[in-house]
Amino acid sequence: MASDITILGIESSCDDTSAAVLRGTEMLSNVIASQAVHVQYGGVIPELASRAHQQNIVPVVDTALKNAGTEISDIDAIAFTRGPGLLGSLLVGVSFAKGLAVANNIPLVEVNHLQGHILSHFIDLPGQETPHPAFPFLCLLVSGGHTQIVLVSAPLHMEIVGTTIDDAAGEAFDKCAKVMGLPYPGGPVIDKLAAQGDPSRFRFAKPSVEGFDYSFSGLKTSFLYFLRDRVKEDPDFIENNKADLCASLQKTIIDILLNKLVKAAKEYRIRDIAIAGGVSANSGLRNAITAEGEKRHWHTFLPPLKFTTDNAAMIAVAGYFRYSEGLLSDLSVTPEARIENILAKE
Ligand code: KG4
Ligand code: ZN
Repeated sequence: MASDITILGIESSCDDTSAAVLRGTEMLSNVIASQAVHVQYGGVIPELASRAHQQNIVPVVDTALKNAGTEISDIDAIAFTRGPGLLGSLLVGVSFAKGLAVANNIPLVEVNHLQGHILSHFIDLPGQETPHPAFPFLCLLVSGGHTQIVLVSAPLHMEIVGTTIDDAAGEAFDKCAKVMGLPYPGGPVIDKLAAQGDPSRFRFAKPSVEGFDYSFSGLKTSFLYFLRDRVKEDPDFIENNKADLCASLQKTIIDILLNKLVKAAKEYRIRDIAIAGGVSANSGLRNAITAEGEKRHWHTFLPPLKFTTDNAAMIAVAGYFRYSEGLLSDLSVTPEARIENILAKE
């Protein structure tokens, strides 16, 4: 979208420190510093995450401005992630955004991280024609902390029509990976191993949940018990069957996700279907949703891989939509670890 509005986006909700500059919806830069420190602990350690954000945020923002060919005086608004996320991580980004805004007299725009994931479908890359979903569309938002089907009627008008009642899909990937002794985060590792395995080799119980809601904690438990029993008979069972285990587990998660998405698409009579969030990087899910879309004549939207995991370009694009509607935040704004209401327009 042609616009003169230049937005600096800042994201620090979990373990990626990121800053991006967008002009309108066109991305000029997007810098991400990921935190390798957590791998050795098999999960994100909140205190280490805050510390790493504190170290990374100045160089990351500086590089994003430089890569975009901009200076702070070119920035019309600073968009930042207010939540949901880890409080200590959010505090770094929110405080930094506030300080930068005050020092340079720039308006602040708070962004809901989940809205950012969904609106990543509206980021334009310079010189590239990117098709965008038409409103209303359904977005399957699948990340480490959330699994939701969201009805999106306008950039800032979103309604959750289904959500997980326990674990998120990303958590299912990560926890099952841990049980198999795979490194953190387990999602991408399972994805890779699954490519060499047989998805029909093992079967795991699927949940029966009402409506469009999800549940993944039962799958995790049945996977754990299944392995415990097999390992009793054969201590090398996991090692010898890793690829088939990953492929079968991944297929089960994808089947669960698609089942409800198809139901929701039918119920709401919507054919523009998008996916977003970290798990939308999963190659099995991308293939399955593409195939389902071809069968059902959907317009299917898969985000570029670089926009699936946490990034500030998605925060900046969401910030652009909010700024365009005059939705500014004042200096009293504080981070929120939990923001359940994704509508978050006011
Ligand atoms: O959106 P995200 O970066 O952070 C949150 O907001 O949670 O998502 C992280 C999640 C992790 O659970 C990670 O294992 C999962 O996304 N993930 C994947 C893949 N890449 C990342 N899961 C399955 N397959 C992948 N290729
Ligand atoms: Zn995220």
